[in-house]
Amino acid sequence: MQVSELARRFEEIFGQRPRIYRAPGRVNLIGEHTDYNDGFVMPAAVGFSAYVAVAPRPDRRLAIRSEQFPGTFEFDLDHLPQQRTGAWCDYVLGVAVVLRQHGHQLAGSNLLVHGEVPIGAGLSSSASVEVASALALLSLQETQLPLPEVARLCRQAENSFVGARVGIMDQFVSCLGKAGHAILLDCRSLAFEPVPIPAGLELVVCNTMVKHDLATGAYNTRRAECEEGVRHFARWNPAVRALRDVTPDLLSQHDRDMPTTIWKRCCHVVRENQRTTDAARALAGGDLERIRQLMRDAHRSLRDLYEVSCPELDAMVEAAEGLPGFCGGRMTGGGFGGCTINLVRRENASDFAVKIAERFRRATGISPQVDCCSAEDGAARLA
Ligand code: GLA
Repeated sequence: MQVSELARRFEEIFGQRPRIYRAPGRVNLIGEHTDYNDGFVMPAAVGFSAYVAVAPRPDRRLAIRSEQFPGTFEFDLDHLPQQRTGAWCDYVLGVAVVLRQHGHQLAGSNLLVHGEVPIGAGLSSSASVEVASALALLSLQETQLPLPEVARLCRQAENSFVGARVGIMDQFVSCLGKAGHAILLDCRSLAFEPVPIPAGLELVVCNTMVKHDLATGAYNTRRAECEEGVRHFARWNPAVRALRDVTPDLLSQHDRDMPTTIWKRCCHVVRENQRTTDAARALAGGDLERIRQLMRDAHRSLRDLYEVSCPELDAMVEAAEGLPGFCGGRMTGGGFGGCTINLVRRENASDFAVKIAERFRRATGISPQVDCCSAEDGAARLA
């Protein structure tokens, strides 16, 4: 996206020169469905981003437009809706509502959103729009919040306004991503550590083109199942507040003491936390064989225990096996469709992209979208 082009469009529509903010989407290397269990994740921000252009207006209205969708949505800042409208503008509106709820003053504003993160692909299109919108809205008040706080507020907008009970991972890495690094994040304390991705590796993102929709029931059902797991484990150890607190020992002692489905969900989360911290060590140490094993185990666990994969994601993971330069892959994001993430040696990456697409097409009849990416910096003002 040319920033000058977005500025020109904004001037055409609103007759003002805007400020422009960019916030990236993400891939998650490992640590899936652990964030809302107070666990560990290891995502990286990537080059697909949302851009929000903003300028003040003299009245108390909030006008929201998109380059992708028709219409202008207008709201009275002092009487913002308290419930979602069901339209795409909810991601911006929800952020405005939550900022107001937390006592942040907002000025009347015109906003133009340009999203380049594919929607419904599990690459955090919603978090990127939320984060860019939050920074844009706050900037007109010259308010600077610490980025972890911006992430927390954006997550709250998605939880309480949009209605998807997501964890903090996507908003956090969209704010705090670092070029050339994955971010190992402790979702309980929000302590984080950039982990260098070995030079010479590319992130190859393979989109199955099967759209997922997090707001539909399955994601929230998984959350509820984890909460039920916590209630079981807390009977045997009252210190258990989240699945983060369940040790592998406690897990194996009680495999028959709760419904099988609940135990399977818990089993995924407890072991995935361990895999994630192991993977951070392996990545930092350049132990690619270990990374490959951990990513493979993570995918199998998501497929068989957490049950959030789908035949197309499994086919894409299989299609990567044996291709030159492949160093590990798995489904990434919430699941039920979307993308796989593959670590591939740079010299093999473009060939890998062609071959995996061919194999996937042969297996499923679907033409996938394959992109070679690198880890990028988090959100920033561009103009
Ligand atoms: C979605 C959510 C995240 C996280 C992942 C699964 O991307 O937005 O918070 O829960 O699913 O790891």
